[in-house]
Amino acid sequence: MFSTKKSQGNLHKYIQRQSTDEFAVKAREHNYRARSAFKLIEINEKFKFLKPESTVIDIGCAPGSWLQVVVQKCPNGYASGVDLQNVLPIRGADILSLSDITDPAVKLKIREKLAHRQVDVVLSDMAPNPTGDNATDHLRLIELCRSVFRLFSVENEIELVKNGVYLCKIWDGSARAEFVRELSDRFSTVKTVKPTACRDNSAELYLFCRNFKK
Ligand SMILES: C[S@@+](CC[C@H](N)C(=O)[O-])C[C@H]1O[C@@H](n2cnc3c(N)ncnc32)[C@H](O)[C@@H]1O
Repeated sequence: MFSTKKSQGNLHKYIQRQSTDEFAVKAREHNYRARSAFKLIEINEKFKFLKPESTVIDIGCAPGSWLQVVVQKCPNGYASGVDLQNVLPIRGADILSLSDITDPAVKLKIREKLAHRQVDVVLSDMAPNPTGDNATDHLRLIELCRSVFRLFSVENEIELVKNGVYLCKIWDGSARAEFVRELSDRFSTVKTVKPTACRDNSAELYLFCRNFKK
């Protein structure tokens, strides 16, 4: 494969940013696989939802920094991760690599892994490959978040506890308000948060939902 000048330029920019970015530097110091670890740490500092005994499922977990945080915060719980990509093992986490959350066979595998455990926290930091059109990317990500929401609110492949938490990343756009309304029908609290580790120019936001109404 040969690279174009444009892709070389992008790679150069990426390397420069990673070497100076505060959170990328901190991630390397703490051995986190990605700077996004600090987004979860900040949201958890605000809402304190990861407990030592929590059962947590992390959808879109590669390369694994959120799972690393979960394993640290929930030493007596159970952590499972799912991703389209291959994820290197993390001690204390049960990982389903090369798995698409929208695939019915994967939903069944998740159910098997959970083996009747009730889940306290569902995380989704998924990001589909961008098409370049922000409106389209926004709608595709909302659809992915909705498919995870359906897993525990309609399909019952994941049994979320009463009072459980769902934290998902969206890219902001026109369908946010409607999705927040859908979430608010099933959760007493739905908050929109933008952790400081989110890049300033990024449209990403997190929806933190707590107190699931079974
Ligand atoms: C921003 S990364 C997640 C970073 C992760 N939270 C961490 O801290 O390491 C987004 C991930 O979502 C995954 N993803 C996108 N669509 C998916 C799908 N349909 N099923 C499973 N994973 C998906 C991508 O493969 C990618 O690895």
